[in-house]
Amino acid sequence: MLTFVLEDSKDTKLMAETLSRHLTEGDLVLLSGELGAGKTTFARSLLQSLGVRETITSPTFVLIKSYQGKLTIDHADIYRIDDLEEIEMLCIPELLEDGHLVVIEWGEKALGMLGSSYLQVSFERIDGDVSVEEEIAGAAKRLAAIDIVGPRFRDRIAQMEADIGRIWSVA
Ligand SMILES: Nc1ncnc2c1ncn2[C@@H]1O[C@H](COP(=O)(O)OP(=O)(O)OP(=O)(O)O)[C@@H](O)[C@H]1O
Ligand SMILES: [Mg+2]
Repeated sequence: MLTFVLEDSKDTKLMAETLSRHLTEGDLVLLSGELGAGKTTFARSLLQSLGVRETITSPTFVLIKSYQGKLTIDHADIYRIDDLEEIEMLCIPELLEDGHLVVIEWGEKALGMLGSSYLQVSFERIDGDVSVEEEIAGAAKRLAAIDIVGPRFRDRIAQMEADIGRIWSVA
C-alpha cells in the first residue's frame, strides 16, 4: 500500500494521469472514499488521459456508463446499490473479460466479487480547517492510498510505485 498527500484537485488529476499510463485492457480500478472525496474527479482525469473526449458525468444515477478512448472504459458508481445481486447484474467480470477497463466508485462494496486482481485507490479528507469555498474549488488536501492487489499487476507494480514515488513522497 502506498500512501501520500494530494495537495489539491490538480494533484488528484495528476495521480490519475500517472496511473493511467500503467493500465490496460481488462484491468479493474476500485475507488473508495466518502461522499465528495474525489472519486469522480479522479475517474474523469483517468478517462481523459486514456483519450476519452466526450463529457464524463458522474454515474451515480445511471450506475454504469461506457466510454471509448484508447480502450473501452466502463465507469460505474455503486453507491446506490445495496443488494449484491444488483452488482452482479452489472456483469463486471464479463466486461473485464471482453477487455474493458472498469472503474468503479464505491468499489469496496464489490470487493471479493470481482476477482483477485485490482487496483484500489482510496481518498480521505485530511484538511480540517479548509473553507467550503476552498473545498469546492478543489483546494483541499486528501490522503491517498493505493493498493495494488493480485497477480495481474505483478509485472507492473515496481514501475507504478516508481512513477508515483517520483512525484509524491510515499509512506
Ligand atoms: N484534493 C482534492 N482532490 C479531489 N477533489 C477535491 C480536492 N480538494 C477539494 N476537492 C473537491 O471535492 C469535490 C470532489 O467531488 P467528486 O465528485 O470528485 O467526489 P466523489 O468522491 O466522486 O463523490 P461522490 O461520492 O458523491 O460520487 C469537488 O468539488 C472537488 O473540487
Ligand atoms: Mg462520484
